[in-house]
Amino acid sequence: MHLASKRILLIIGGGIAAYKSLFLIRRLREQGAQVRCILTKAGAEFVTPLSVSALSEQPVYQDLFSLTDEAEMGHIRLSREADLVVVAPATANLMARMASGLADDLATTCLLASSAPVLLAPAMNGYMWAHPATQENRQRLAERGVSFVGPEAGDLACGEVATGRMAEPEEILTAIASQLAGQSGPLACKRVLVTAGPTREALDPVRYVSNHSSGKQGFAIATALAALGAEVALIAGPVQLPTPDNLSRIDVESADDMLAACLSALPVDAAICAAAVADWKAQIAPNKMKKTGDGLPEISWQQNPDILATLSQHEQRPPLVVGFAAETEKVVEHAQAKRARKGCDWIVANDVSAERGVFGGDSNQVHVIDADGVEAWPQLDKRAVAERLADRIAHALGQS
Ligand code: CTP
Repeated sequence: MHLASKRILLIIGGGIAAYKSLFLIRRLREQGAQVRCILTKAGAEFVTPLSVSALSEQPVYQDLFSLTDEAEMGHIRLSREADLVVVAPATANLMARMASGLADDLATTCLLASSAPVLLAPAMNGYMWAHPATQENRQRLAERGVSFVGPEAGDLACGEVATGRMAEPEEILTAIASQLAGQSGPLACKRVLVTAGPTREALDPVRYVSNHSSGKQGFAIATALAALGAEVALIAGPVQLPTPDNLSRIDVESADDMLAACLSALPVDAAICAAAVADWKAQIAPNKMKKTGDGLPEISWQQNPDILATLSQHEQRPPLVVGFAAETEKVVEHAQAKRARKGCDWIVANDVSAERGVFGGDSNQVHVIDADGVEAWPQLDKRAVAERLADRIAHALGQS
């Protein structure tokens, strides 16, 4: 993450999620960012100015008409001297006032006076988020170029389970890094394609075969690459995951569709094939297959194209091609053979035997195999694997 000396203006609105903003301040400071905070009147009902000030190591700005604040740091300077303005939690009320262009307190005045990009992390009751008024405000703000991270579905402080939970500090941090990296990250000006998730191979108009891939690892890699400033094409099989910020997502179904989408994304500087592509496709029956007494359906199978091998041997071969190897035994040995067979540069090998819980789970223990040998990485969550891999890619592309 490249946040050293970035200037963040964090506006803390009034919601129970304000406590998470304290973690966010700490994480931003650890990354070397300078954090100035505005605490709204409602925000100060949830976290104290003292905590915010102690963590940010800066005075806290609260009052539009404070003579001391104006003398030390006028509100115009506060809003201008920021590389990014982050509103977390962004309440329904703050969003409504922003959308209407109100400037009735320090937070909204600074938002109106700022030309910096703005990132909102909404947090509110599920009905408030779903209300047409809030959705219209979200849409209006998005059309003006405001970015959003979350909200997520889950348990809300009001006792309901709905969409309205503020994104976790780590996710907000990634979104901040990705906003800022577009300007100056180590992968700025690099184009990368990432495949993720399973493919789905039709048998007839209503049936298909597929696999258990959740797409989490591929999505995390795409997110981490975008956070370093890369222009990312995320080519995703059918998965239940939200689209990460700052990348373009192309949804596909079959291996043939995935290959076509990859080829049309060329040329790229790196291709990361994290998808669990089905090895076979069926001759698709034109009509729904019907049961016929005791007989089993005749399905004729064909080999699917190998996307990783195709990209590795293509005349527009990306300078760096990375494959994954899902193995259940002799992980390194099989992965080394796979690297040679497919002609890619690196293989990220993981053990997907059932007891490891990699499919659908949140953590992964991988070996990275390249021409120089084998690197065993510790057990890490998928986000950490992705960030480490993105750094390695940035290094290999000679940009870090
Ligand atoms: N892959 C691909 N196209 C395919 C099959 C696999 O691009 N038709 C890619 C995957 O995205 C992954 C790598 O190849 O990066 C290895 O996938 P894996 O399922 O482990 O290997 P297979 O090629 O299926 O080989 P095997 O079944 O022998 O393990």
